[in-house]
Amino acid sequence: MTNKSEQLFNKALKVLPGGVSRNTIFRKPYPFYADKGEGCYVTDVEGVTRIDFANNMASLIHGHAYPAIVDAVTAQLAKGSCFTMATEAEVNYAQLLCDRVPSFDKIRFVNSGTEAVMAMLKASRAYTGKAKIAKVEGAYHGAYDYAEVSQTANPSNWGTLDKPNSIPVAVGTPAKALEDVVVIPFNDTERAIKILDQHKDEIACILVDLLPHRVGLIPASNDFINALHKWTRDNKSLLVFDEVITFRTNYSGAQQNYDVSPDLTAMGKVIGGGFPAGALAGCDEVMKVLDPTEPQVLLPHSGTFSANPITMTAGLAAMKDFDQAAVTRLNDLAIYAKAEINKAIKEVVIAACVTGAGSMFRIHLKPTPPRNYREAYVDKAESALITKLLDHLFDNGIMLINTCSATLSTAMGKKEIDHLVSVLKDGFELIKPEMI
Ligand SMILES: Cc1ncc(COP(=O)(O)O)c(C=O)c1O
Repeated sequence: MTNKSEQLFNKALKVLPGGVSRNTIFRKPYPFYADKGEGCYVTDVEGVTRIDFANNMASLIHGHAYPAIVDAVTAQLAKGSCFTMATEAEVNYAQLLCDRVPSFDKIRFVNSGTEAVMAMLKASRAYTGKAKIAKVEGAYHGAYDYAEVSQTANPSNWGTLDKPNSIPVAVGTPAKALEDVVVIPFNDTERAIKILDQHKDEIACILVDLLPHRVGLIPASNDFINALHKWTRDNKSLLVFDEVITFRTNYSGAQQNYDVSPDLTAMGKVIGGGFPAGALAGCDEVMKVLDPTEPQVLLPHSGTFSANPITMTAGLAAMKDFDQAAVTRLNDLAIYAKAEINKAIKEVVIAACVTGAGSMFRIHLKPTPPRNYREAYVDKAESALITKLLDHLFDNGIMLINTCSATLSTAMGKKEIDHLVSVLKDGFELIKPEMI
């Protein structure tokens, strides 16, 4: 006897590598197959309904099948999904985002976070005429060769904190790509500046995620960002933010929480309203590299589905309703969730902690919050316990991201958080005996 998911997976194994189209959804013995979603609930093909704290990897800000998005997209679909022409939807959406974020004079839409980061790095090179980029050790920025360097560094290859190694993710990554990426430790201003100083005159931009998930989901310190900003001013370089995930954390993105503004920002996820999306935005001076009316276009750039009216319509509807009041309510809900999880950790007396900001948080099976990628690193033993905890949550109606992270949607309230915390508490009791 096999269930429907198992049957689908067996079929998938014959036509998809490892049976999946993206490794993030893989789980043993087989992945879940979604049937439908409504608000913050998702139902799989077995008919099991769970509260969705994964939200397609943080990309759904209003949960599933949000009526305003369904209505707007349905109307647009009937008129056509893409054209070899511009549409009014992209102009209206560009206007909304530029009005919303002080550092955005201009915006260019693309189709994913990976593409947005890639365009941002290429725009930085085009503007500065330099090849190298600097990035934080362990930070995830999508799949561009340069952006993914050091993302999976481990104790056997990461080198010293004074000189972290440039580690490839994919076998066959060109050595030249590795040489052109300077890796700096997170929130460690002194070491970071010393490393950057060894590459003066060579760095096009410093790429930063202000709340990097794999680095532990801890915010970049204001001092760290100020120091990086100053370094870029002193060295004719750019400071660029990857807000693909963090754009949801405040009304104008996470950058709203800092003294200085970036030259460029990459976005994705929530700005698509549930459809594939990305965008690159920033000051006029730098965005000019994309401008086809300039005598010389420094970065010629196009994309077949860029700014397609389905994504633009969905994104506009999503972000209109993610106004200041919605942002505040969601972030307050996350503060409540973290406080309740901390209470559960104390009551169970387990070596765990919770980090995060805005509408996202991450549970670590560590006694104190990690401060950088090396401290956040999950070894085999911790990974096995996290899998056990996640399976317990799945079996009890909760779906998290596979790093034990949660992202909230506006469809949620305290009821869903209370259920999460109660199941989590039982899960802590379950794994506690196995923790050393
Ligand atoms: C910070 C960050 N940058 C870039 C990306 C890549 O985005 P996408 O998966 O849309 O290519 C992600 C995706 O998780 C991300 O979290």
